[in-house]
Amino acid sequence: MRITISLLGLLLMCSVIRAQVSIIPQPVSVKQPRINAKFSITPATVIVLEGSNLQKTAAFLNEYLQQIYLFKLKVVNNSTSANAIRLNYERLDKPIEGAYVLTVNNKGAYIAGDNETGVFYGVQTLFQLLPVPDAQLKMRPGKLGIPYISIEDEPRFEYRGVHLDVSRHFFPVSFVKKYIDYLAFHKLNVFHWHLTDDQGWRIEIKKYPLLTTVGGFRNGTIIGRFPGTGNDNMRYGGFYTQEEVKEVVQYAADRHITVLPEIEMPGHASAAIAAYPQLSCFPDESTKHNPRAAWSGDSTGKQVQQTWGVFDDVFCAGKDNTFQFMQDVLDEVIPLFPGKYLHVGGDECPKNNWKRCPNCQQRIKENNLKDEHELQSYFIQRMEKYLNSKGKILIGWDEILEGGLAPNAMVMSWRGEQGGIAAAKEKHNVIMTPGTPVYFDHSQTKQEDSVTIGGYNPIEKVYAYEPVPKELSAEESKYVLGAQANMWTEYMSNTQKVEYMLFPRISALSEVLWTPKDKKNWDDFVIRMKTQVKRYELMGINYSKAFNFSAPK
Ligand code: ACM
Ligand code: ZN
Repeated sequence: MRITISLLGLLLMCSVIRAQVSIIPQPVSVKQPRINAKFSITPATVIVLEGSNLQKTAAFLNEYLQQIYLFKLKVVNNSTSANAIRLNYERLDKPIEGAYVLTVNNKGAYIAGDNETGVFYGVQTLFQLLPVPDAQLKMRPGKLGIPYISIEDEPRFEYRGVHLDVSRHFFPVSFVKKYIDYLAFHKLNVFHWHLTDDQGWRIEIKKYPLLTTVGGFRNGTIIGRFPGTGNDNMRYGGFYTQEEVKEVVQYAADRHITVLPEIEMPGHASAAIAAYPQLSCFPDESTKHNPRAAWSGDSTGKQVQQTWGVFDDVFCAGKDNTFQFMQDVLDEVIPLFPGKYLHVGGDECPKNNWKRCPNCQQRIKENNLKDEHELQSYFIQRMEKYLNSKGKILIGWDEILEGGLAPNAMVMSWRGEQGGIAAAKEKHNVIMTPGTPVYFDHSQTKQEDSVTIGGYNPIEKVYAYEPVPKELSAEESKYVLGAQANMWTEYMSNTQKVEYMLFPRISALSEVLWTPKDKKNWDDFVIRMKTQVKRYELMGINYSKAFNFSAPK
Protein backbone atom coordinates (compact mmCIF):
# COMPACT_ATOMS: atom_id res chain seq x y z
CA MET A 1 0.00 0.00 0.00
CA ARG A 2 2.73 2.38 1.01
CA ILE A 3 4.63 1.56 -2.20
CA THR A 4 1.55 2.23 -4.25
CA ILE A 5 1.05 5.60 -2.62
CA SER A 6 4.62 6.70 -3.08
CA LEU A 7 4.59 5.48 -6.67
CA LEU A 8 1.44 7.48 -7.21
CA GLY A 9 3.11 10.48 -5.57
CA LEU A 10 6.10 10.08 -7.85
CA LEU A 11 3.85 9.84 -10.86
CA LEU A 12 1.97 12.93 -9.78
CA MET A 13 5.21 14.79 -9.25
CA CYS A 14 6.48 13.78 -12.67
CA SER A 15 3.26 14.85 -14.26
CA VAL A 16 3.61 18.42 -13.01
CA ILE A 17 7.33 18.82 -13.61
CA ARG A 18 7.74 20.73 -16.79
CA ALA A 19 10.90 22.08 -18.24
CA GLN A 20 11.21 25.73 -17.25
CA VAL A 21 11.06 27.77 -20.42
CA SER A 22 12.34 31.33 -20.40
CA ILE A 23 11.13 33.16 -23.46
CA ILE A 24 11.50 36.94 -23.71
CA PRO A 25 9.31 38.62 -24.79
CA GLN A 26 6.69 36.34 -23.23
CA PRO A 27 4.51 34.87 -26.02
CA VAL A 28 0.74 35.16 -26.20
CA SER A 29 0.21 31.48 -25.37
CA VAL A 30 2.61 28.79 -24.17
CA LYS A 31 1.28 25.30 -23.49
CA GLN A 32 3.39 22.44 -22.22
CA PRO A 33 2.13 18.87 -21.95
CA ARG A 34 2.11 17.34 -18.51
CA ILE A 35 5.20 15.33 -19.30
CA ASN A 36 8.78 16.31 -19.34
CA ALA A 37 9.46 15.02 -22.84
CA LYS A 38 12.05 16.49 -25.13
CA PHE A 39 12.95 16.59 -28.76
CA SER A 40 16.69 16.54 -29.39
CA ILE A 41 18.42 18.61 -32.01
CA THR A 42 21.61 16.82 -33.06
CA PRO A 43 23.90 17.26 -36.06
CA ALA A 44 21.67 14.66 -37.78
CA THR A 45 18.55 16.85 -37.49
CA VAL A 46 17.45 18.46 -40.74
CA ILE A 47 15.79 21.81 -41.44
CA VAL A 48 12.93 21.26 -43.85
CA LEU A 49 11.79 24.23 -45.94
CA GLU A 50 8.12 23.48 -46.41
CA GLY A 51 7.32 27.09 -47.29
CA SER A 52 8.95 29.21 -49.99
CA ASN A 53 11.54 31.98 -49.44
CA LEU A 54 12.71 30.62 -46.11
CA GLN A 55 16.36 29.92 -46.99
CA LYS A 56 17.53 33.06 -45.18
CA THR A 57 15.59 32.15 -42.05
CA ALA A 58 17.10 28.66 -42.11
CA ALA A 59 20.53 30.26 -42.48
CA PHE A 60 19.90 32.36 -39.34
CA LEU A 61 19.03 29.23 -37.44
CA ASN A 62 22.21 27.56 -38.64
CA GLU A 63 24.33 30.62 -37.89
CA TYR A 64 23.10 30.66 -34.31
CA LEU A 65 23.66 26.93 -33.85
CA GLN A 66 27.14 27.26 -35.31
CA GLN A 67 28.02 30.25 -33.15
CA ILE A 68 26.85 28.80 -29.87
CA TYR A 69 26.89 25.02 -30.30
CA LEU A 70 29.45 24.59 -33.09
CA PHE A 71 27.31 22.61 -35.48
CA LYS A 72 25.02 23.25 -38.41
CA LEU A 73 22.08 21.39 -39.85
CA LYS A 74 21.44 20.22 -43.35
CA VAL A 75 18.71 22.21 -45.11
CA VAL A 76 16.35 20.17 -47.35
CA ASN A 77 13.16 20.89 -49.25
CA ASN A 78 11.26 17.84 -48.10
CA SER A 79 11.68 15.01 -45.66
CA THR A 80 9.40 12.71 -43.73
CA SER A 81 11.88 12.33 -40.87
CA ALA A 82 10.71 13.16 -37.35
CA ASN A 83 14.22 14.37 -36.60
CA ALA A 84 13.45 17.67 -38.28
CA ILE A 85 12.72 21.34 -37.78
CA ARG A 86 10.05 22.28 -40.29
CA LEU A 87 9.59 25.88 -41.46
CA ASN A 88 6.31 26.72 -43.05
CA TYR A 89 3.43 29.21 -43.32
CA GLU A 90 -0.09 29.14 -41.99
CA ARG A 91 -2.99 31.58 -42.24
CA LEU A 92 -1.55 33.10 -45.40
CA ASP A 93 -5.04 34.23 -46.30
CA LYS A 94 -5.46 36.38 -43.18
CA PRO A 95 -1.95 37.10 -41.97
CA ILE A 96 -1.07 39.03 -38.84
CA GLU A 97 2.33 40.67 -39.34
CA GLY A 98 4.90 38.70 -37.33
CA ALA A 99 2.53 36.04 -35.99
CA TYR A 100 3.67 32.43 -35.76
CA VAL A 101 3.03 29.07 -34.14
CA LEU A 102 5.77 26.81 -32.81
CA THR A 103 5.13 23.20 -31.87
CA VAL A 104 7.58 20.67 -30.52
CA ASN A 105 6.42 17.07 -30.13
CA ASN A 106 7.28 13.53 -31.19
CA LYS A 107 7.11 14.66 -34.81
CA GLY A 108 9.95 17.15 -34.28
CA ALA A 109 9.78 20.94 -34.28
CA TYR A 110 7.37 22.87 -36.46
CA ILE A 111 7.42 26.62 -36.98
CA ALA A 112 4.78 28.27 -39.13
CA GLY A 113 4.49 32.01 -39.62
CA ASP A 114 1.69 34.08 -41.05
CA ASN A 115 4.44 35.58 -43.19
CA GLU A 116 8.26 35.44 -43.44
CA THR A 117 8.60 37.75 -40.45
CA GLY A 118 6.50 35.34 -38.41
CA VAL A 119 8.75 32.40 -39.31
CA PHE A 120 11.79 34.51 -38.40
CA TYR A 121 10.27 35.31 -35.00
CA GLY A 122 9.41 31.65 -34.51
CA VAL A 123 13.08 30.83 -35.03
CA GLN A 124 14.05 33.53 -32.50
CA THR A 125 11.76 31.79 -30.02
CA LEU A 126 13.29 28.41 -30.85
CA PHE A 127 16.72 29.83 -29.87
CA GLN A 128 15.29 30.49 -26.45
CA LEU A 129 14.14 26.89 -26.03
CA LEU A 130 17.69 25.61 -26.48
CA PRO A 131 19.78 24.78 -23.41
CA VAL A 132 22.03 27.65 -22.46
CA PRO A 133 25.62 26.56 -21.98
CA ASP A 134 27.72 28.52 -19.51
CA ALA A 135 29.42 31.61 -20.82
CA GLN A 136 32.88 30.09 -20.82
CA LEU A 137 31.46 27.44 -23.14
CA LYS A 138 32.88 24.65 -20.99
CA MET A 139 29.73 22.70 -21.67
CA ARG A 140 28.68 22.52 -25.29
CA PRO A 141 25.97 19.94 -25.62
CA GLY A 142 26.11 17.97 -28.86
CA LYS A 143 22.49 17.05 -28.34
CA LEU A 144 20.15 19.95 -27.68
CA GLY A 145 17.05 18.90 -25.80
CA ILE A 146 14.07 21.16 -26.31
CA PRO A 147 10.86 20.59 -24.36
CA TYR A 148 7.61 19.52 -25.98
CA ILE A 149 5.66 22.71 -26.28
CA SER A 150 2.97 24.52 -28.20
CA ILE A 151 3.30 28.27 -28.70
CA GLU A 152 0.99 30.73 -30.42
CA ASP A 153 2.31 34.22 -30.71
CA GLU A 154 1.87 37.64 -32.28
CA PRO A 155 3.02 41.18 -31.40
CA ARG A 156 0.89 43.60 -29.42
CA PHE A 157 2.18 46.72 -31.23
CA GLU A 158 3.13 47.14 -34.87
CA TYR A 159 5.93 49.65 -34.10
CA ARG A 160 8.61 48.33 -31.73
CA GLY A 161 11.60 50.62 -31.86
CA VAL A 162 15.00 51.44 -30.47
CA HIS A 163 16.96 54.53 -31.45
CA LEU A 164 20.68 55.26 -31.63
CA ASP A 165 22.30 58.68 -31.73
CA VAL A 166 25.47 58.43 -33.83
CA SER A 167 26.13 62.19 -33.86
CA ARG A 168 27.21 62.85 -30.28
CA HIS A 169 29.35 59.74 -30.59
CA PHE A 170 29.99 57.81 -33.76
CA PHE A 171 29.82 54.02 -33.95
CA PRO A 172 31.18 51.86 -36.74
CA VAL A 173 29.01 49.84 -39.12
CA SER A 174 30.10 46.64 -37.35
CA PHE A 175 28.54 47.86 -34.10
CA VAL A 176 25.43 49.21 -35.81
CA LYS A 177 24.91 45.70 -37.16
CA LYS A 178 25.40 44.20 -33.71
CA TYR A 179 22.84 46.67 -32.36
CA ILE A 180 20.41 45.52 -35.06
CA ASP A 181 21.05 41.90 -34.02
CA TYR A 182 20.09 42.83 -30.47
CA LEU A 183 16.83 44.30 -31.71
CA ALA A 184 16.07 41.21 -33.80
CA PHE A 185 16.75 38.91 -30.85
CA HIS A 186 14.02 40.81 -28.98
CA LYS A 187 11.55 40.82 -31.90
CA LEU A 188 11.83 44.60 -32.21
CA ASN A 189 11.29 45.93 -35.70
CA VAL A 190 12.37 49.56 -36.06
CA PHE A 191 15.90 50.92 -35.79
CA HIS A 192 15.72 54.71 -35.55
CA TRP A 193 19.06 56.03 -36.79
CA HIS A 194 19.70 59.59 -35.55
CA LEU A 195 22.13 60.64 -38.26
CA THR A 196 22.57 64.40 -37.91
CA ASP A 197 22.96 66.81 -35.02
CA ASP A 198 25.03 69.74 -33.74
CA GLN A 199 28.06 67.56 -32.97
CA GLY A 200 28.39 65.75 -36.29
CA TRP A 201 26.70 65.05 -39.63
CA ARG A 202 27.01 61.32 -40.25
CA ILE A 203 25.55 60.47 -43.65
CA GLU A 204 27.28 61.06 -46.98
CA ILE A 205 25.37 63.45 -49.26
CA LYS A 206 27.08 63.54 -52.65
CA LYS A 207 25.76 66.95 -53.67
CA TYR A 208 27.07 68.51 -50.45
CA PRO A 209 30.38 66.78 -49.66
CA LEU A 210 31.32 69.29 -46.94
CA LEU A 211 28.47 67.98 -44.79
CA THR A 212 30.68 65.02 -43.92
CA THR A 213 34.23 66.26 -44.60
CA VAL A 214 33.63 69.38 -42.48
CA GLY A 215 30.36 68.68 -40.61
CA GLY A 216 31.39 65.12 -39.75
CA PHE A 217 34.24 66.18 -37.46
CA ARG A 218 34.70 68.36 -34.38
CA ASN A 219 37.93 69.69 -32.93
CA GLY A 220 37.38 68.33 -29.45
CA THR A 221 34.84 67.14 -26.91
CA ILE A 222 34.19 68.27 -23.36
CA ILE A 223 35.51 65.96 -20.67
CA GLY A 224 32.98 64.56 -18.21
CA ARG A 225 29.56 65.81 -17.35
CA PHE A 226 28.45 69.13 -18.84
CA PRO A 227 29.96 71.71 -18.68
CA GLY A 228 32.91 69.40 -18.19
CA THR A 229 36.29 69.67 -16.58
CA GLY A 230 38.03 70.66 -19.79
CA ASN A 231 38.24 69.64 -23.42
CA ASP A 232 40.06 66.56 -24.73
CA ASN A 233 41.38 68.60 -27.68
CA MET A 234 41.05 65.59 -29.96
CA ARG A 235 39.60 65.81 -33.43
CA TYR A 236 36.65 63.43 -33.43
CA GLY A 237 34.21 62.21 -36.02
CA GLY A 238 33.24 59.90 -38.81
CA PHE A 239 30.40 59.24 -41.19
CA TYR A 240 28.69 56.50 -43.16
CA THR A 241 29.06 56.38 -46.92
CA GLN A 242 25.89 55.74 -48.90
CA GLU A 243 27.23 52.27 -49.68
CA GLU A 244 27.57 51.58 -45.96
CA VAL A 245 24.07 52.90 -45.33
CA LYS A 246 22.72 50.50 -47.98
CA GLU A 247 24.61 47.66 -46.33
CA VAL A 248 23.07 48.47 -42.93
CA VAL A 249 19.57 48.84 -44.38
CA GLN A 250 19.86 45.44 -46.11
CA TYR A 251 21.29 43.85 -42.97
CA ALA A 252 18.32 45.17 -41.00
CA ALA A 253 15.80 44.11 -43.67
CA ASP A 254 17.20 40.57 -43.53
CA ARG A 255 16.30 40.64 -39.84
CA HIS A 256 12.82 42.08 -40.50
CA ILE A 257 13.80 45.48 -39.16
CA THR A 258 13.03 48.80 -40.83
CA VAL A 259 15.62 51.54 -40.53
CA LEU A 260 14.07 54.93 -39.80
CA PRO A 261 16.53 57.69 -40.72
CA GLU A 262 16.43 61.03 -38.92
CA ILE A 263 17.66 64.19 -40.62
CA GLU A 264 17.25 66.99 -38.06
CA MET A 265 15.62 70.28 -39.01
CA PRO A 266 15.23 73.17 -38.39
CA GLY A 267 17.19 72.93 -35.10
CA HIS A 268 20.23 70.89 -34.07
CA ALA A 269 21.84 72.18 -37.26
CA SER A 270 25.32 73.33 -36.13
CA ALA A 271 27.24 70.63 -38.05
CA ALA A 272 25.42 71.36 -41.32
CA ILE A 273 25.92 75.10 -40.81
CA ALA A 274 29.63 74.59 -40.12
CA ALA A 275 29.79 72.96 -43.55
CA TYR A 276 27.51 75.44 -45.35
CA PRO A 277 27.23 78.72 -43.36
CA GLN A 278 24.65 80.15 -45.80
CA LEU A 279 22.09 77.83 -44.19
CA SER A 280 22.23 80.04 -41.08
CA CYS A 281 20.22 83.24 -40.64
CA PHE A 282 23.58 84.93 -39.95
CA PRO A 283 26.35 83.30 -42.00
CA ASP A 284 28.96 85.81 -40.85
CA GLU A 285 28.41 85.37 -37.14
CA SER A 286 30.81 82.96 -35.46
CA THR A 287 29.34 79.91 -33.77
CA LYS A 288 28.48 80.77 -30.19
CA HIS A 289 29.71 78.36 -27.61
CA ASN A 290 28.72 78.03 -24.06
CA PRO A 291 31.30 80.01 -22.05
CA ARG A 292 31.10 77.44 -19.25
CA ALA A 293 32.44 74.67 -21.49
CA ALA A 294 36.07 74.52 -22.69
CA TRP A 295 36.63 74.92 -26.43
CA SER A 296 39.30 73.33 -28.60
CA GLY A 297 40.90 74.96 -31.64
CA ASP A 298 39.56 77.77 -33.81
CA SER A 299 36.69 79.61 -32.21
CA THR A 300 35.93 81.88 -35.15
CA GLY A 301 33.57 81.19 -38.04
CA LYS A 302 31.05 78.38 -38.05
CA GLN A 303 32.09 75.35 -36.04
CA VAL A 304 30.80 71.89 -35.22
CA GLN A 305 29.77 71.91 -31.56
CA GLN A 306 32.02 70.30 -28.94
CA THR A 307 29.58 70.19 -26.08
CA TRP A 308 25.98 69.18 -25.54
CA GLY A 309 22.78 71.16 -25.43
CA VAL A 310 20.53 73.27 -27.60
CA PHE A 311 22.02 75.96 -29.84
CA ASP A 312 20.57 79.10 -31.38
CA ASP A 313 22.16 78.77 -34.81
CA VAL A 314 19.44 76.89 -36.69
CA PHE A 315 18.45 76.59 -40.35
CA CYS A 316 17.11 79.89 -41.70
CA ALA A 317 13.42 79.48 -42.47
CA GLY A 318 13.36 82.66 -44.55
CA LYS A 319 15.72 81.70 -47.35
CA ASP A 320 14.47 79.53 -50.20
CA ASN A 321 17.99 78.13 -50.47
CA THR A 322 17.49 76.36 -47.15
CA PHE A 323 14.50 74.49 -48.52
CA GLN A 324 16.32 73.69 -51.73
CA PHE A 325 19.19 72.28 -49.65
CA MET A 326 16.87 70.20 -47.48
CA GLN A 327 15.09 68.81 -50.53
CA ASP A 328 18.39 67.97 -52.21
CA VAL A 329 19.49 66.13 -49.06
CA LEU A 330 16.20 64.25 -48.87
CA ASP A 331 16.49 63.38 -52.56
CA GLU A 332 19.60 61.40 -51.68
CA VAL A 333 18.32 60.01 -48.37
CA ILE A 334 14.92 58.79 -49.59
CA PRO A 335 16.20 56.13 -52.03
CA LEU A 336 18.49 54.66 -49.37
CA PHE A 337 15.66 53.84 -46.96
CA PRO A 338 12.75 51.79 -48.27
CA GLY A 339 10.59 52.29 -45.14
CA LYS A 340 7.51 54.48 -45.43
CA TYR A 341 8.59 57.00 -42.77
CA LEU A 342 11.24 59.70 -42.64
CA HIS A 343 12.06 61.53 -39.40
CA VAL A 344 12.81 65.25 -39.67
CA GLY A 345 13.48 65.94 -35.97
CA GLY A 346 11.71 69.22 -35.29
CA ASP A 347 12.66 69.27 -31.60
CA GLU A 348 14.43 71.94 -29.58
CA CYS A 349 14.58 74.69 -32.17
CA PRO A 350 15.23 78.04 -30.44
CA LYS A 351 13.53 80.95 -32.16
CA ASN A 352 16.06 83.67 -31.19
CA ASN A 353 17.76 83.89 -34.59
CA TRP A 354 14.47 83.80 -36.47
CA LYS A 355 13.22 86.72 -34.36
CA ARG A 356 16.07 88.95 -35.51
CA CYS A 357 16.46 87.60 -39.06
CA PRO A 358 14.97 89.85 -41.79
CA ASN A 359 14.44 86.86 -44.09
CA CYS A 360 12.57 84.88 -41.46
CA GLN A 361 10.47 87.92 -40.52
CA GLN A 362 9.67 88.49 -44.19
CA ARG A 363 8.52 84.85 -44.46
CA ILE A 364 6.26 85.31 -41.44
CA LYS A 365 4.71 88.43 -42.96
CA GLU A 366 4.23 86.99 -46.44
CA ASN A 367 2.50 83.90 -45.11
CA ASN A 368 0.40 85.67 -42.47
CA LEU A 369 2.02 83.61 -39.73
CA LYS A 370 1.33 84.60 -36.14
CA ASP A 371 4.78 84.04 -34.74
CA GLU A 372 7.98 81.99 -34.92
CA HIS A 373 6.16 78.84 -33.74
CA GLU A 374 3.98 79.11 -36.80
CA LEU A 375 7.14 79.64 -38.83
CA GLN A 376 8.46 76.32 -37.50
CA SER A 377 5.15 74.76 -38.45
CA TYR A 378 5.48 76.31 -41.93
CA PHE A 379 8.95 74.76 -42.22
CA ILE A 380 7.76 71.28 -41.24
CA GLN A 381 4.62 71.48 -43.36
CA ARG A 382 6.64 72.52 -46.39
CA MET A 383 8.95 69.55 -45.85
CA GLU A 384 5.96 67.29 -45.33
CA LYS A 385 4.51 68.29 -48.69
CA TYR A 386 7.82 67.42 -50.30
CA LEU A 387 8.11 64.08 -48.50
CA ASN A 388 4.50 63.16 -49.25
CA SER A 389 5.11 63.93 -52.93
CA LYS A 390 7.91 61.35 -52.77
CA GLY A 391 5.65 58.79 -51.11
CA LYS A 392 7.04 59.20 -47.58
CA ILE A 393 5.28 59.96 -44.31
CA LEU A 394 6.90 62.58 -42.07
CA ILE A 395 7.69 61.83 -38.44
CA GLY A 396 8.73 64.53 -35.99
CA TRP A 397 9.30 64.97 -32.27
CA ASP A 398 6.32 66.40 -30.40
CA GLU A 399 7.39 70.04 -30.91
CA ILE A 400 5.90 69.71 -34.41
CA LEU A 401 2.53 70.14 -32.70
CA GLU A 402 3.41 73.74 -31.81
CA GLY A 403 2.06 76.18 -34.35
CA GLY A 404 -0.08 73.48 -35.98
CA LEU A 405 0.55 69.90 -36.95
CA ALA A 406 1.42 69.00 -40.53
CA PRO A 407 -1.65 67.25 -41.99
CA ASN A 408 -0.27 63.70 -42.33
CA ALA A 409 2.52 63.72 -39.78
CA MET A 410 3.24 61.06 -37.20
CA VAL A 411 4.36 62.32 -33.78
CA MET A 412 7.04 60.94 -31.50
CA SER A 413 6.10 61.98 -28.00
CA TRP A 414 9.25 62.50 -25.94
CA ARG A 415 8.44 65.29 -23.46
CA GLY A 416 6.15 62.95 -21.59
CA GLU A 417 2.99 61.65 -23.19
CA GLN A 418 1.00 64.87 -23.55
CA GLY A 419 2.14 65.49 -27.12
CA GLY A 420 1.22 61.96 -28.06
CA ILE A 421 -2.18 62.23 -26.42
CA ALA A 422 -2.92 65.52 -28.22
CA ALA A 423 -1.80 64.07 -31.56
CA ALA A 424 -3.88 60.89 -31.14
CA LYS A 425 -6.92 63.04 -30.32
CA GLU A 426 -6.26 64.87 -33.59
CA LYS A 427 -6.24 61.46 -35.32
CA HIS A 428 -2.52 61.40 -35.98
CA ASN A 429 -0.42 58.31 -35.50
CA VAL A 430 1.85 58.38 -32.48
CA ILE A 431 4.95 56.64 -31.19
CA MET A 432 5.44 56.94 -27.45
CA THR A 433 9.03 57.66 -26.35
CA PRO A 434 8.60 59.52 -23.04
CA GLY A 435 11.84 60.46 -21.27
CA THR A 436 10.50 58.65 -18.24
CA PRO A 437 10.87 55.70 -18.55
CA VAL A 438 12.16 54.93 -22.04
CA TYR A 439 15.15 57.25 -22.38
CA PHE A 440 17.91 54.70 -22.01
CA ASP A 441 20.53 57.42 -21.55
CA HIS A 442 19.09 57.92 -18.07
CA SER A 443 20.66 56.06 -15.13
CA GLN A 444 19.42 52.61 -14.20
CA THR A 445 20.66 52.75 -10.64
CA LYS A 446 20.79 55.48 -8.00
CA GLN A 447 24.41 54.59 -7.33
CA GLU A 448 25.41 54.95 -10.98
CA ASP A 449 29.19 54.67 -11.19
CA SER A 450 29.50 56.03 -14.72
CA VAL A 451 28.60 59.46 -16.04
CA THR A 452 25.10 59.68 -17.46
CA ILE A 453 22.86 62.55 -18.44
CA GLY A 454 20.91 61.97 -15.21
CA GLY A 455 17.36 60.80 -14.65
CA TYR A 456 16.44 57.44 -13.21
CA ASN A 457 14.91 54.75 -15.39
CA PRO A 458 15.55 51.42 -13.70
CA ILE A 459 14.40 48.23 -15.40
CA GLU A 460 11.36 47.90 -13.14
CA LYS A 461 10.10 51.27 -14.40
CA VAL A 462 10.72 50.31 -18.03
CA TYR A 463 8.90 47.00 -17.52
CA ALA A 464 5.90 48.74 -15.97
CA TYR A 465 5.51 51.15 -18.88
CA GLU A 466 2.14 51.12 -20.60
CA PRO A 467 2.29 52.90 -24.00
CA VAL A 468 -1.45 53.54 -24.29
CA PRO A 469 -2.39 56.39 -21.93
CA LYS A 470 -5.60 56.13 -19.91
CA GLU A 471 -6.67 59.50 -21.30
CA LEU A 472 -7.33 57.96 -24.71
CA SER A 473 -10.58 56.30 -25.71
CA ALA A 474 -10.49 52.89 -27.39
CA GLU A 475 -10.84 54.60 -30.76
CA GLU A 476 -8.08 57.14 -30.04
CA SER A 477 -5.79 54.39 -28.70
CA LYS A 478 -5.56 52.90 -32.17
CA TYR A 479 -3.36 55.84 -33.15
CA VAL A 480 -0.67 54.71 -30.71
CA LEU A 481 1.29 52.45 -33.04
CA GLY A 482 3.86 51.55 -30.45
CA ALA A 483 6.77 52.86 -28.44
CA GLN A 484 10.51 53.25 -28.63
CA ALA A 485 13.53 53.56 -26.37
CA ASN A 486 15.93 56.39 -27.17
CA MET A 487 19.68 56.10 -26.85
CA TRP A 488 21.24 59.56 -26.82
CA THR A 489 24.98 59.15 -26.68
CA GLU A 490 26.44 62.32 -25.14
CA TYR A 491 27.82 60.16 -22.34
CA MET A 492 28.42 56.98 -24.33
CA SER A 493 31.77 57.31 -26.04
CA ASN A 494 32.26 53.61 -26.68
CA THR A 495 30.23 50.58 -27.67
CA GLN A 496 30.56 48.87 -24.28
CA LYS A 497 28.83 51.81 -22.65
CA VAL A 498 26.02 51.67 -25.21
CA GLU A 499 25.52 47.99 -24.40
CA TYR A 500 25.59 48.74 -20.69
CA MET A 501 22.80 51.29 -21.12
CA LEU A 502 20.79 49.05 -23.47
CA PHE A 503 20.95 45.84 -21.45
CA PRO A 504 18.97 44.55 -19.68
CA ARG A 505 16.41 47.30 -20.27
CA ILE A 506 15.88 46.23 -23.89
CA SER A 507 14.51 42.91 -22.62
CA ALA A 508 11.93 44.74 -20.50
CA LEU A 509 11.04 47.01 -23.44
CA SER A 510 10.48 44.02 -25.71
CA GLU A 511 7.86 42.70 -23.33
CA VAL A 512 6.16 46.12 -23.14
CA LEU A 513 5.84 46.12 -26.91
CA TRP A 514 5.18 42.47 -27.72
CA THR A 515 3.43 40.75 -24.83
CA PRO A 516 -0.33 41.17 -24.26
CA LYS A 517 -0.94 43.56 -21.38
CA ASP A 518 -2.62 40.90 -19.23
CA LYS A 519 0.26 38.45 -19.74
CA LYS A 520 2.93 40.80 -18.43
CA ASN A 521 4.18 39.76 -15.02
CA TRP A 522 7.21 41.31 -13.34
CA ASP A 523 7.88 38.41 -10.94
CA ASP A 524 7.80 35.92 -13.77
CA PHE A 525 9.99 38.21 -15.90
CA VAL A 526 12.60 38.28 -13.13
CA ILE A 527 12.71 34.47 -13.14
CA ARG A 528 13.05 34.32 -16.92
CA MET A 529 15.74 37.01 -16.86
CA LYS A 530 18.07 34.66 -14.97
CA THR A 531 18.35 32.63 -18.16
CA GLN A 532 18.30 35.69 -20.40
CA VAL A 533 21.33 37.10 -18.59
CA LYS A 534 23.18 33.86 -19.38
CA ARG A 535 22.33 34.42 -23.03
CA TYR A 536 23.80 37.93 -22.80
CA GLU A 537 26.97 36.37 -21.44
CA LEU A 538 27.09 33.85 -24.25
CA MET A 539 26.82 36.69 -26.74
CA GLY A 540 29.56 38.64 -24.96
CA ILE A 541 27.27 41.55 -24.11
CA ASN A 542 28.35 44.13 -21.52
CA TYR A 543 25.13 44.48 -19.51
CA SER A 544 24.31 46.48 -16.41
CA LYS A 545 24.13 44.48 -13.19
CA ALA A 546 22.17 47.16 -11.37
CA PHE A 547 19.35 44.68 -10.90
CA ASN A 548 20.34 41.30 -9.48
CA PHE A 549 17.96 38.79 -11.03
CA SER A 550 19.35 35.97 -8.90
CA ALA A 551 18.84 37.68 -5.55
CA PRO A 552 16.40 35.84 -3.30
CA LYS A 553 13.16 37.76 -2.97
C1 ACM B 1 14.90 64.88 -27.82
O1 ACM B 1 15.22 64.17 -26.85
N1 ACM B 1 15.40 66.09 -27.97
C2 ACM B 1 13.98 64.40 -28.82
ZN1 ZN C 1 16.44 83.40 -40.99
